[in-house]
Amino acid sequence: MKILLINGPNLNMLGNRDQGLYGSYSLETIQTEIISRGQILGLDVECFQSNSEGAIIDFLQNRAKESSGVIINPGALTHYSIALRDALVDSNLPAVEVHLSNIYARESWRHVSVVAPISLGQISGLGYRGYLLAMDFMADYLKEGTGIDG
Ligand code: DQA
Repeated sequence: MKILLINGPNLNMLGNRDQGLYGSYSLETIQTEIISRGQILGLDVECFQSNSEGAIIDFLQNRAKESSGVIINPGALTHYSIALRDALVDSNLPAVEVHLSNIYARESWRHVSVVAPISLGQISGLGYRGYLLAMDFMADYLKEGTGIDG
């Protein structure tokens, strides 16, 4: 089973962005950690990052049929991209939303996620570990059907 790990705008700059909010690891380091976790969990991971909303939507459309789930940090697209939300719905893939920073402890406009209502759940504020927790959940969810009791 393949999981799509999608990171949105500016997340290619991790390590150079505000480390107090986002941590010191580069995206490449985080992706390596997630791929290793996938190997332990028996999940293939395909990583994709883009600064372009359209490129992320194209990627989702192209990969949906061959994939089992999505872990996505949409970056700022979280707060306004109805197009990304629609693409996630159309993919029919279970999705977990991840944020490195706690979006609820920041500006009020970051408290809104247009993706959260169509996701299985959201992890916010736990740094890169949020992605690993999302992987653990996704493995249980895909095996057990809900992941809630798994
Ligand atoms: C972010 C939070 C967003 O508000 C912000 O625009 C980002 C990163 C996070 O991971 O904490 O780019 O998604």
